[in-house]
Amino acid sequence: MQKKVFIKTFGCQMNEYDSNRIYDTVKNIGYIRNDDQNDVDCYILNTCHIRDKAKEKVYHEIGRVKKSFRGKKKPIVVVAGCVAQAENEEMLKREPYIDIVIGPQAYHKINDLILNQHKNKKIDETDFDTVTKFNYFDDIKNENSKISAFLTIQEGCDKFCHFCVVPYTRGPEYSRPFEQIIKEAEELIKNGVREITLLGQNVNAYSYCENGKEYRISDLIKKLDQYSELKRVRYTTSHPRDMTDDLIDCYSSCNKLMPFVHLPIQSGSDKILHLMNRKHKVEDYLKVYEKLININNDIKFSSDFIIGYPGETENDFNDTLKLLDKVNFINSFSFIFSPRPGTTASNYELIDNEICKERLVTIQKKLFNNQIQINKSMEKQSVEVLVENKLKNQNKYFGRNKYLSSVIFDGSEDIIGKLVEVKIENSNQNNLFGKLDNKMAAA
Ligand code: SAM
Ligand code: SF4
Ligand code: F3S
Repeated sequence: MQKKVFIKTFGCQMNEYDSNRIYDTVKNIGYIRNDDQNDVDCYILNTCHIRDKAKEKVYHEIGRVKKSFRGKKKPIVVVAGCVAQAENEEMLKREPYIDIVIGPQAYHKINDLILNQHKNKKIDETDFDTVTKFNYFDDIKNENSKISAFLTIQEGCDKFCHFCVVPYTRGPEYSRPFEQIIKEAEELIKNGVREITLLGQNVNAYSYCENGKEYRISDLIKKLDQYSELKRVRYTTSHPRDMTDDLIDCYSSCNKLMPFVHLPIQSGSDKILHLMNRKHKVEDYLKVYEKLININNDIKFSSDFIIGYPGETENDFNDTLKLLDKVNFINSFSFIFSPRPGTTASNYELIDNEICKERLVTIQKKLFNNQIQINKSMEKQSVEVLVENKLKNQNKYFGRNKYLSSVIFDGSEDIIGKLVEVKIENSNQNNLFGKLDNKMAAA
């Protein structure tokens, strides 16, 4: 008999990819995706541990599930993802409503755990077994049927920035075999995917060796560039240190690689970068920036910033603001430093929270203002959009331009999955609004 499963996903794109693969996996034991989260036999929470209150959010969410299933048959409750990895059996002890705790490198075991859950009572599965996981996934079709899909090529991190939990929750760096990735990409394209975003916590550190040849992310991009049905290629998230010349060259040789680079710098102060153990200076970042601009001056950038990192003085913060005058970021993420248990920076003395909040407001004002101006500059222009879907309950369509900005416009069902030209009429901080430009040819 078919059963229903729902996955609530928090965190980064890698969690989105994982949730999609978990749906593909549990299908083999008769669990079908159901988007009504209050009517399921199995409820999976795919969690993120990157910033504070992550753990509390999970318990809060479990409390909500408990309430909504009161008086009904209890679903099997699974906590997956990075909080599961970090907290493991503690979660089972604290919240008896949870049945299974499973870390990101053990998803190949999820079917057995669900099937045997009644026998084992409570299960904690948090070993790092990345190779087996991807070999297992290799045998299961990626049935992602969206126009734009994620494809994990690399997992984990060996860089150990002092603020970050990822090396502890995702384990050591691992790069999937080149051919395994290409096979999965071909499946996606066959399913109708027209844009692939290659994923990794350190995606540009991708390195796979076979028969004496080293395959880098540039090799994957060059290969994907050859598939005629595929329209766009992206990748995220990169580390400035791994922005090698072969990857930079792809911005002139691969037409499908979008001219948008998400390149986190975290701070504009060398002193803070050193305290963060980032292993690069501002100057190194700017060198990469200039190389990219020189090879293709259409490229736009986005970044991540941590505000109020321990030791950040007014001068250090001003250095970060000055960086925004040098690089015109199209959009960026900025968050106040959040001490994470087990990381080196969790022992450092915190900066007064009011100062952090003030600095966050200042930087976001500048970043958001930039974003508004860049979007405004696109008004009255035609931009190329990959159409992803029709908006729910509206006669409008949604897609993205080459810089990943969301575009909402009047269209028709037959353009989904196609590249079209949209004449931008209006904009706000996060969206561009327009109409199909019929004068321009659609691909
Ligand atoms: N690997 C990427 C890199 O090195 O730039 C970053 C991946 S991390 C999942 C995404 C972002 O979360 C980081 O760039 C950082 O800005 C933010 N982040 C990580 N740990 C944080 C912390 N303890 N407090 C605040 N922000 C944090
Ligand atoms: Fe975290 Fe990125 Fe640093 Fe790795 S390189 S520790 S994922 S911030
Ligand atoms: Fe969060 Fe884990 Fe991603 S901590 S940001 S879900 S790698």
